[in-house]
Amino acid sequence: MAVSTDKSISTPGVLLTGASSQIGIFAIPKLVGAGFRVFAVSRKGKPPGYPDYKQVQWLNEASAMDLCQDCEYLLSAGPLNLAKKFLVAVDRLKTAIVFSSSSVETKQRSNDPVERQQVFDMLGLESDLQSRAENTGKKLLILRPTLIYGCGLDTNISRLASWVRRFGFIPVNGKATGLRQPVHADDLAQVAVAALHFKGVLPHTLSLGGGETLSYSDMAMRIFAAMEKPVRLVRLPEWLFISLLRFACRLRLISGVNPEMVKRQNANLVMDDKAARDLLDYDPRPFVPTVADFSLPALQNE
Ligand SMILES: NC(=O)c1ccc[n+]([C@@H]2O[C@H](COP(=O)([O-])OP(=O)(O)OC[C@H]3O[C@@H](n4cnc5c(N)ncnc54)[C@H](OP(=O)(O)O)[C@@H]3O)[C@@H](O)[C@H]2O)c1
Repeated sequence: MAVSTDKSISTPGVLLTGASSQIGIFAIPKLVGAGFRVFAVSRKGKPPGYPDYKQVQWLNEASAMDLCQDCEYLLSAGPLNLAKKFLVAVDRLKTAIVFSSSSVETKQRSNDPVERQQVFDMLGLESDLQSRAENTGKKLLILRPTLIYGCGLDTNISRLASWVRRFGFIPVNGKATGLRQPVHADDLAQVAVAALHFKGVLPHTLSLGGGETLSYSDMAMRIFAAMEKPVRLVRLPEWLFISLLRFACRLRLISGVNPEMVKRQNANLVMDDKAARDLLDYDPRPFVPTVADFSLPALQNE
């Protein structure tokens, strides 16, 4: 059954996939504020404690497929293959803004076969989305952000914050001079909503960095400041860090970290986001996190 109440004629509907993700939860109030009805797609449903907006309906994938055939907008803040399913199934979609990752550029030559495969899969999905959009006359923009943080759901910066809270130090690879551009999920949500409204021609992809470029060491130091803890970086030689990591992984004390990540602490992962700044007034904040950036935001009900 497609949604076709009188209200739906005047109020545009947007399908938001990955609605419970870090970008999704910041996007919802912005979409509501911009006058959209939001069909929030999630397997788990509304996160506990998240506000009840009357303009937002939380749906699982099957119900969204059924109810949202009239939607003209898609914002994907979750997996690319989920975005593809909706782009294929919802004929009326006219505009799709889809988050991918800057990893497709920065991890192409990783020595880790799993990472290379992930990049290969993501590029394949990006290209499928582009062809599908081109063949059906839909407007598609793929956004490639760098390291995301903002509400404790990421597995990079929030992981470091948890580590600081628990152990009071962060191990780093030597000088850890590799440049990073951490970006707040709220800034990504804002630029995505701006892109939904954009009337002109958009490029196929836009890179999105944060408001500041800083070394991995400096980024780690700001996390101590956010947690109001004294800075304790333990600088290890690369071989020792990797040996300890392998040992900890074997004992299942740590997961989701690999030697390539350690090596990359001395590599620059920097994207040029001038096009997004020029076209969409993208103006991300500098990296000055506070403890509030590591838990769900206290959003107000509309
Ligand atoms: N994390 C980063 O630092 C980072 C950096 C750059 C780019 N990105 C990109 O940004 C996008 C969002 O990434 P993310 O890390 O915030 O979130 P994510 O892990 O991609 O997941 C977002 C949400 O999508 C839903 N989801 C996950 N797997 C699913 C599946 N197999 N089928 C259906 N739903 C699924 C989950 O919500 P439910 O369980 O509620 O359904 C989850 O909360 C992705 O395209 C990612 O590549 C992430």
